[in-house]
Formats: sequence, structure tokens, C-alpha cells
Amino acid sequence: MGLLVKAAFVAAAAPFAAAAQVSFQLTGKTLVLDSIPYFVPPSPVSAFEFNTKSSAIVASVAKSFADELIPFSVVFTSALEFSESAFEATVNAWKTQDDVFSDAFLTGVFVTFNGTAHPHVAPSVSLSSTTQKKFGIDFLFLSEIYPGGISLKKSLPSGPFFLKPSTGEIFEAYRLFNDENQAFVYGVIPDGNGGFQELNAHIEGAATSAVAVPSRLYFTPTAEKPLAGKRLGLKDIYDVKGLRTGCGNRAFFQLNPPKNATAPAVQRLLDGGMVLVGKMKTSQFANGETATDDWIDLHAPYNPRGDGYQDASSSSTGPAVGMSSYDFLDHAVGSDTGGSMRGPAGACGLYGNRPSHGAVDLTDVMPLSPEMDTGGVFAKNAKDWAAVGHFWYQNLTSFSKFPKKIIFPVDVFGRSFLTNPPNNGTPDATLNAFIDQLEGFLGTTRTEINVTDLFLHTRPENASAPTLREMLNITYPALISLDQVALVADPFIAAYQATHSGRMPFINPAPLVRWDFGRALPPGQKDKELANKATFMQWFAENVIKNGDPETCSDSIFLYPQSTGEPVPRNQYIGPPGVPSGFSAGRIASFAEVPDMVVPIGEAPFNSTITGETEFLPVTMSFLAAKNCDLMLFNLFASLEDAGILKPVVTGTRLFS
Ligand SMILES: *[C@@H]1O[C@H](CO)[C@@H](O)[C@H](O)[C@H]1NC(C)=O
Ligand SMILES: *[C@@H]1O[C@H](CO)[C@@H](O)[C@H](O)[C@H]1NC(C)=O
Ligand SMILES: *[C@@H]1O[C@H](CO)[C@@H](O)[C@H](O)[C@H]1NC(C)=O
Ligand SMILES: *[C@@H]1O[C@H](CO)[C@@H](O)[C@H](O)[C@H]1NC(C)=O
Ligand SMILES: *[C@@H]1O[C@H](CO)[C@@H](O)[C@H](O)[C@H]1NC(C)=O
Ligand SMILES: *[C@@H]1O[C@H](CO)[C@@H](O)[C@H](O)[C@H]1NC(C)=O
Ligand SMILES: *[C@@H]1O[C@H](CO)[C@@H](O)[C@H](O)[C@H]1NC(C)=O
Repeated sequence: MGLLVKAAFVAAAAPFAAAAQVSFQLTGKTLVLDSIPYFVPPSPVSAFEFNTKSSAIVASVAKSFADELIPFSVVFTSALEFSESAFEATVNAWKTQDDVFSDAFLTGVFVTFNGTAHPHVAPSVSLSSTTQKKFGIDFLFLSEIYPGGISLKKSLPSGPFFLKPSTGEIFEAYRLFNDENQAFVYGVIPDGNGGFQELNAHIEGAATSAVAVPSRLYFTPTAEKPLAGKRLGLKDIYDVKGLRTGCGNRAFFQLNPPKNATAPAVQRLLDGGMVLVGKMKTSQFANGETATDDWIDLHAPYNPRGDGYQDASSSSTGPAVGMSSYDFLDHAVGSDTGGSMRGPAGACGLYGNRPSHGAVDLTDVMPLSPEMDTGGVFAKNAKDWAAVGHFWYQNLTSFSKFPKKIIFPVDVFGRSFLTNPPNNGTPDATLNAFIDQLEGFLGTTRTEINVTDLFLHTRPENASAPTLREMLNITYPALISLDQVALVADPFIAAYQATHSGRMPFINPAPLVRWDFGRALPPGQKDKELANKATFMQWFAENVIKNGDPETCSDSIFLYPQSTGEPVPRNQYIGPPGVPSGFSAGRIASFAEVPDMVVPIGEAPFNSTITGETEFLPVTMSFLAAKNCDLMLFNLFASLEDAGILKPVVTGTRLFS
């Protein structure tokens, strides 16, 4: 109010000087078409070169749209004569391919020819006035190749757009979606400058900000851009030009200005044609947190599986929840240090990977422990997952033959399934049936080993302890806490205190207990733990999974259960977070630097205390292979999908349609 009064006063005194003092930024607008919310970006992508006649037609249509914006579509045809049936086929195809297009965008239609010119036949469009009426077309314009056509200032792809009748400017159409499971920190749109800006849009009745997605029809994959149009959500630890990185901490989000550079890992995906739609929630500083009580600064996203009130695991929680909740999202990128991709993939029933260490450059990504940090991607099916993997992990070699050895660790599964088969209907039976199918596919039978026992008998002489459990007990918590205190916590706290009169920023309990653990460790501990990690890595590569097979990269694949449908209701108090010590199968990939890829294979029933009904949660399997053999695994999963052994997952309560 005060500002308005002052502005009015200044304007009256010196109108031109006042205008220069005001920083004015358009942020786009929202509108609702036939009950569907849309977003119109602030800048046009093209404009019509109107003539007197076309302006008059548009002006008459504009009346019913309050003179603001008219929805219309750009339609390409390569047919010399564009007929009603071809038009109808195009519209029907759009409806199955695109979630942004709707009939409202047929209010205006602009037909443009992209076929081969014929020496004697001029291209023509035969859409009668009856046809136009049938489809609700209020104006039909043809491009300049047709007699009497009009031209565009800049060429456009096909699909839905908005036309501003007063200027002829054309804007892209974004559909707005409600983030009902609170997976996003904020939605984004391109800033027209190689970066992004926070989306300024909200849907009536929604608890949080909306996410905007452009029409899928704008994008056509090419050899250079094989991922064109694939919508991407990004864990909020990766820097993106123009956006803040929050790392799940409100003080950190506020303290640091928008970034001036995009992390190379993200840039690679954007270069491949991916469309960034938003930043997604991470547990704080990518540490392990359990819903709901550990998530103090941000509210934990809602896992849609089962009764909708189960923990979604951490720390790539937002990316996994978004992927399992929303059809509008194709991929989400997270990170994995000690299970941050694999845990959420297991809890939310998704394809999700921890790649070989070093497979992706993590410059401008918040570190937890650079010795173990990796960047992974979620997908809803094995083929899409493989496409991103091959493009993103560009320095790895692809192998399309698969190992003949399946390692089944009895100590991890709890027992031999051969001598002690699981009871029908149990999660173990689901795991076992899947392994049977895998054996059939690879033409082999499983090799049972006991990792704990194998180490007892084959450990190297310089191992610092006789068992894996003792040797590696604090390797993980020591490395993450020592690294993160030095690289993130101390600089953050110092910068915050410098600008907040010495006060401490708020830190969630989980990172705090880990950082305190690291601060209390004696000097030299990091080197000791790095040596333990190196001992394990070398032992594992020599005794368990061997590298260097010329045909299959890895000599074997190693299986273990990632999730077995155990409920972890988010309305239960579990107790304060502790130090993640100990050794388990999930630590193998973190220490041995090998890929660990999670695939959904089934569901397990449970009695929900929330709905009072039988509900289902995901059963997923983890696959390990030798270091840098990730692309072999991606190819294996794509082949298993072709064979019907793996299936695409759908969003919502249940995994499979
Ligand atoms: C013309 O455009 C349509 C729609 O974008 C596309 O499917 C088709 O392949 C294009 N044809 C040619 C010859 O480029
Ligand atoms: C970008 O930000 C970094 C760190 O905040 C700073 O060191 C660098 O000078 C900035 N670069 C440009 C081009 O502004
Ligand atoms: C992959 O190779 C390219 C080209 O040699 C190099 O620039 C890039 O840093 C490498 N990426 C990784 C993650 O090693
Ligand atoms: C694996 O080996 C360890 C050490 O010998 C033993 O204690 C454990 O019972 C074995 N586990 C299984 C499932 O055989
Ligand atoms: C593992 O480390 C934790 C945390 O320091 C400690 O409480 C526990 O006793 C250790 N266990 C073993 C087997 O060394
Ligand atoms: C044991 O030796 C290997 C190399 O031979 C080395 O990489 C590892 O760090 C050593 N482990 C310890 C605990 O000293
Ligand atoms: C659910 O509860 C019923 C009744 O107590 C029990 O018979 C059934 O086994 C339970 N189902 C599961 C999946 O735990």
C-alpha cells in the first residue's frame, strides 16, 4: 500500500524519472481453459505477420476470450492435399501423445506444409466450414506457402500455443499440475538466457506451488538430442544457472543467491534435449532421514504407494515421490552416497540406479562424501532408463552380451532358497520366482555364496580386522561426516554467522548427529577408513565380481533384495537418528565403487493401520556388476523388459497396471 501511494506521488511529480526507478519483471500468467489450468510464459516464441484480413478475423474471435489470449494449434502436413481425415488423425494422435493439448486449442488452427513441393500440384488444405464447425475451429490460417497464407516471424514446432490478438504474438502453452505429494521445492521455466527461473504459479486449492510442463508435441528426438522433450525433475543439491540450491535447509536456501552456472551433469542432460521442470526435495544435506519426525525444515514428500502414508526413504525422496506420483514427469535425477537413490527406488517402486563411482562429473553438486558420491536417475521403465544411462554415462562402454554367472549371497537373503525354498505368497517367493526367470533368460543357474564367510577365509593380510562388520563398521559414517563437515557444514555455518550476528543456522537432527560424530573423530581417521575402503574394493573385485570380461564386461551379476514391502508408516515415531555404522549389502557399491541398480519386480500385501484395508508395497531387486559395467546392466534390463520379465511401472497406489 505504502509503495503504491509513493509511486503514484512520484509519478505525478515526474512521470518519466519514476518509470526508470521501477524494476519491472513479467513472470508469465496463469489461466484456466475448460477447467484445466495453464501457464503462459512471459516472453513470446514467435508472432504472426498479420494482414488486415487476418487481424479482423482474430479480432472477432478475441471477443469471446476477453481480448486476452486465444488458444490455437500449429499443424504440420506433408500431404499435398490436407484433408479432414488427416486432420482428425493428427488431433487424435496428439491426444494420446500429449497431456498439454486439449480440444480448446482447436479454437484457432494454423496449417503449415513441410512436405516435398510438387512441380505441378500446389499444396492445398481442404477443411470445409462443416469440418471447422465440427472441431470447434473459429479461425483457420494457412502458412505463406498456400495462396493467401500468412507467415510467422520465427518458425514453430507443431502443437498447442496461445495467440495474443492485439499484437499477433505467440506464446508456448504449459500445463500446470498440482504437486499433491509435495515432491517439489519449486517448478521452473527457462529464463531465455541459458538458465532457468522459478515458476510463479499456483493452482486454486493446492497446498503448494504448481509445476508447469510444456507440450510434448514441441519436441522431436534426434541423434544429437535423443532425450528431446523428456521432462526432468532435479534433486535440490545440483546447481542450475538462475536458481537457488537449498539442499533441504531453509537457512542455506536463503543465505545463498541464485547460481550463476549449471552443474555439468545437468547440462549434459539439457544438451541431450531434456526439459527441466523443477527442483525436488532432498532430505537435509542428502543425509538419511525418516518421515515424518526427522524432516523438520521441509515436510517429507508423500510416497503414493500403498496407503499413501509410508516413508519414501531418503535422500533422493522428492525425485522418487514425483516419479511414482506423476505421469507428467519422465525422469528425475538424484544422488547416491550410501543408498540415496536405491532406498527411494525400493520404497517407491521405481527403476533407480547408483552408477559406478566417477561415471558422472559432480562439479557444482553439494557433496556428502566425494569418495562415494554418485549421480543416478529414476525411470518408470527399463528402456527409457537405458536411454538416459547411455547418454549420461557417456564415458562407459556398452556391452550387449550378459554374464552367465548369477551370484546369490545367502547371508544377505538370510538363507539358501535352494535348500530352504520360500513359502508361496511371501516377498521371498516373489524374489525367488524372479531369479528363476532370470536364470531361464541367461541360460544359467545361480551360484550361492556367503560373503561374510568368504571374507573370513580369503581376506587380505593387511585387513584391519577379521570380519567385514568390524573392518567397515564406521567407514561410511566417518567418511561422510568428515567430508561434509569440511566441505559444507563449516563454510555454511561460518557464512551464516557472519551475516546473522554470530547466530547458528537451524540444522535437522540427522545431519547434526552425523556432523558431531565426525567432529569427535581423532586425526588420521579419514586415512584409516580410506584404506579400509580400498582393502574392501580390491578384495571384492578379486573374490566376488570380476571385471574385464571382453564380451560381458562383468564376469557375474550379484543380486540382493532392495525392498520387500515392509511398511514404515510415517505417522509412527521411530526414535532419534543415530550414526549409520555397521555393514550391509547396500554398502558394497559405496565401498567397491560398482553400479547398484534397482528394478521393481512385484508387490507385497500388508494390513494398513491407516486405511484399515489390505494395501500393497513394492518388492524390488538390486543388481551389482563390476565397476564401469553399468551399460551392460542397462542393456540387460531393456532385454528383460522385451522378454516380459521386467514391466514398466505406473504412478499411484499400485505398481503395475
Ligand atoms: C512434418 O511434420 C510432422 C509433424 O511435426 C512430422 O510428423 C513429419 O515427420 C514432418 N514431415 C516431414 C517430411 O518433415
Ligand atoms: C559465479 O559464482 C562463483 C561462486 O559464487 C564466483 O566465484 C564466480 O566468480 C561467479 N562467476 C561469474 C561469471 O559471475
Ligand atoms: C568423459 O569424457 C569427456 C571427454 O573426454 C570428458 O570431458 C569428461 O570429463 C568425462 N566425464 C567423466 C565423468 O569422466
Ligand atoms: C554365513 O557365514 C557366517 C560366517 O561363517 C555364518 O555365521 C552365517 O551363519 C552364514 N550365513 C548363512 C545364511 O549361511
Ligand atoms: C560400530 O560402531 C558403532 C558406532 O561407533 C559402535 O557403537 C559399535 O559398537 C561398533 N560395532 C562394532 C561391531 O564394532
Ligand atoms: C592393503 O593393501 C592394499 C594394496 O595392496 C591397499 O590398497 C589398502 O589400502 C591396504 N589396506 C590397509 C588397511 O592398509
Ligand atoms: C491381515 O490381517 C488378517 C486378520 O488379522 C490376517 O489374517 C492377514 O494375514 C493379514 N494380512 C497381512 C498381509 O498381514
